[in-house]
Amino acid sequence: MKLLVIGSGGREHALVWKLAQSPHVTCLACAPGNAGTGLERLVSNGSFVRNVPIPVDEIPLLIVYAKENGVDFTVVGPDNPLAAGIVDQFQSAGLRIWGPNQRAARFEASKAFSQQFMEKHGIPTARSATFDDPTAAKRYAASLDGRCAVKADGLALGKGVLLTESPLAADQAIEDIMVRRLFGNAGGRVVVQELLTGTEISLHALCDGRRAKLFPTAQDHKRIFDGDRGLNTGGMGTYSPAPFLTDHELTTVGQQILDPWLRGCSVEGIDFRGILYPGVILTSTGPKVIEFNARFGDPETQVYLPRLENDLLELLIASEEGRLDRCELKWSGDACVCVVMAAAGYPGTYQKGDTIEGIDVAEQVAGTKVFHAGTTLRDSSVVTSGGRVLGVTSWASSLATARERAYAAVERIRFTGAQFRHDIGAKGMLGFRG
Ligand code: AMP
Ligand code: GLY
Repeated sequence: MKLLVIGSGGREHALVWKLAQSPHVTCLACAPGNAGTGLERLVSNGSFVRNVPIPVDEIPLLIVYAKENGVDFTVVGPDNPLAAGIVDQFQSAGLRIWGPNQRAARFEASKAFSQQFMEKHGIPTARSATFDDPTAAKRYAASLDGRCAVKADGLALGKGVLLTESPLAADQAIEDIMVRRLFGNAGGRVVVQELLTGTEISLHALCDGRRAKLFPTAQDHKRIFDGDRGLNTGGMGTYSPAPFLTDHELTTVGQQILDPWLRGCSVEGIDFRGILYPGVILTSTGPKVIEFNARFGDPETQVYLPRLENDLLELLIASEEGRLDRCELKWSGDACVCVVMAAAGYPGTYQKGDTIEGIDVAEQVAGTKVFHAGTTLRDSSVVTSGGRVLGVTSWASSLATARERAYAAVERIRFTGAQFRHDIGAKGMLGFRG
């Protein structure tokens, strides 16, 4: 089959790497891809993956490319094209594509929609309300003593949330988002949630319109600095499994969230075929969903796919065809850790164009794969081109060894101003709930 993967981050490199291992894949393109995707080769015939310089939001151009090149199946990585209706548009053009349609993608594209859906269908979530008017939002925040998560309704590049612990700070956050439009027009409407405390984990479920197959747990590290300090980022590292839930507890948590979610989708006529990724806080009164994403997590994908034993293409086709009942997801017992190496200045403005050295030697560490994110080729050298540059990923039979390997690999990679967290997976080592 001829495949097209859409996106250019670490998530997409991991998808390309895993799909390239499928014997069904005879041709694989990535739009626009990065230096890493272009270095992958297919197991079926040894050919290289082809990077195609079309941006992810140029949907008509992507359709033309898919038609002219006889693409049989397209896989979408990022949220923006999903929210813009790429799936509906490909399907209208007679092309097969994997990912939620525009209506289903609203679970991520509108926090107000998601929150209303959760309340209506009995999915455990934070106490919250939605506002178009800053004064009413402030009044509600005051009723929570200012301990809030103030969220812009629309997509805001993975940002769009301010956490506050006093009425003054909550008022300021509401002003910043609604009046000063800190996150652009996404902030015309806000969701104000109570601030929850507890361990935060990522869940993923592969869905086919009627069923949802739960993945193992993973834990992201959203803040830029060690010890969860500093600004929020897209994610500075992940590991899987996150040992805060036994298999039995995970099944229960999955049911508490996914059973009412599936019933709600059926009642509302939402046909969700793709990955549902709930962000969950394990509170003292049970798991609570703080947000839904409608795609693979980044960097969660980088730790899930090395553990996945199935042929990924077969699973994505079953999800798209609505027949996941015939599939069983199989996971290796390994622990997997991904340490993100970011450019100096990230998540603020950062430098680009620095040469990266040592990726090959890093990959000589046992059980290690370096996924590229913000990289590009310049005169056959790999140079930085984004905030999150690399996802250095290692697996082993224990979390301790997987961490040792990932950090040994990180030490072998050099680029100017590289920054990374030193504590990815540390909470998992302590089994620390917080
Ligand atoms: P979101 O984009 O909704 O995932 O929010 C970004 C981050 O803010 C999350 O990963 C959490 O760490 C934090 N957060 C969001 N909502 C809440 C909440 N209700 N209580 C505590 N922390 C939250
Ligand atoms: N891991 C954070 C995200 O994908 O949104």
